[in-house]
Amino acid sequence: MKIAILGGTGNIGKGLALRWECKHEIIIGSREQSKAEQIADSYAQILRENTTKTCNIRGVKNDKAVAMADIVIVAVPYQALKSLVDSIQPSLTNQVIISLVVPMEKQNSYLKYVQPDDGSAAVKLKKLVPDTIGVVAAFHNLSAKKLCNLESHLDYDVAVCGSDKEAKKKVIKLIEDINGIRALDGGELEDAVVIESLTPFLINLARRNNLQELGVKFV
Ligand SMILES: NC(=O)c1ccc[n+]([C@@H]2O[C@H](COP(=O)([O-])OP(=O)(O)OC[C@H]3O[C@@H](n4cnc5c(N)ncnc54)[C@H](OP(=O)(O)O)[C@@H]3O)[C@@H](O)[C@H]2O)c1
Repeated sequence: MKIAILGGTGNIGKGLALRWECKHEIIIGSREQSKAEQIADSYAQILRENTTKTCNIRGVKNDKAVAMADIVIVAVPYQALKSLVDSIQPSLTNQVIISLVVPMEKQNSYLKYVQPDDGSAAVKLKKLVPDTIGVVAAFHNLSAKKLCNLESHLDYDVAVCGSDKEAKKKVIKLIEDINGIRALDGGELEDAVVIESLTPFLINLARRNNLQELGVKFV
């Protein structure tokens, strides 16, 4: 699969790019071509040091990344969602988009989920893109820090929410290619509010109890 990670120059984008361990072609998207190239090269270097597999990873501007991809991961802050979608609109045809966007803000020392009028960031995203695009929500409850540390063993579940059954099936299969992660059908796209709002809860839970990099596992 050709996977474009928009905002792939950031924390969670890096973690995902590394954890697919060269099983797929990764296209790092950025608002800036030179930044995309430079960061993609740095990921390729990390992968060369950690695997003997041949890795296909490159960096281009977000709109070009979308045009090249089968799967598009939107990995930007919520505040950037609308402007990002506007910038990639001409490249959207029949790709599947995965949203891992969490709308949240700091309140006192803790984080709070700020529910969008549409119900969730994923539903808002669905309304912004053409009907031909399948939108799925996943990855919200993984820690970028944990993903980026390749020495750290993963043992997490990722709930996948989406109402386009084919798109969801494709994404579940793709997630299962990451070692240590089990993908579970989390229901309809409207259910994405549950996994989005769980993120600030997990971060606050970690802070309150002096724990680090909490994730989710259903047992
Ligand atoms: N960090 C985590 O552990 C984690 C876990 C699960 C979900 N998430 C969610 O994933 C998303 C990304 O998180 P992150 O921590 O990776 O964020 P980040 O590192 O702060 O940002 C990711 C990338 O977004 C791009 N960006 C920033 N402002 C933008 C704008 N106005 N327009 C377009 N692109 C912009 C930047 O890329 P360029 O400058 O290269 O364009 C940046 O490198 C957030 O919605 C977050 O809630 C994060």
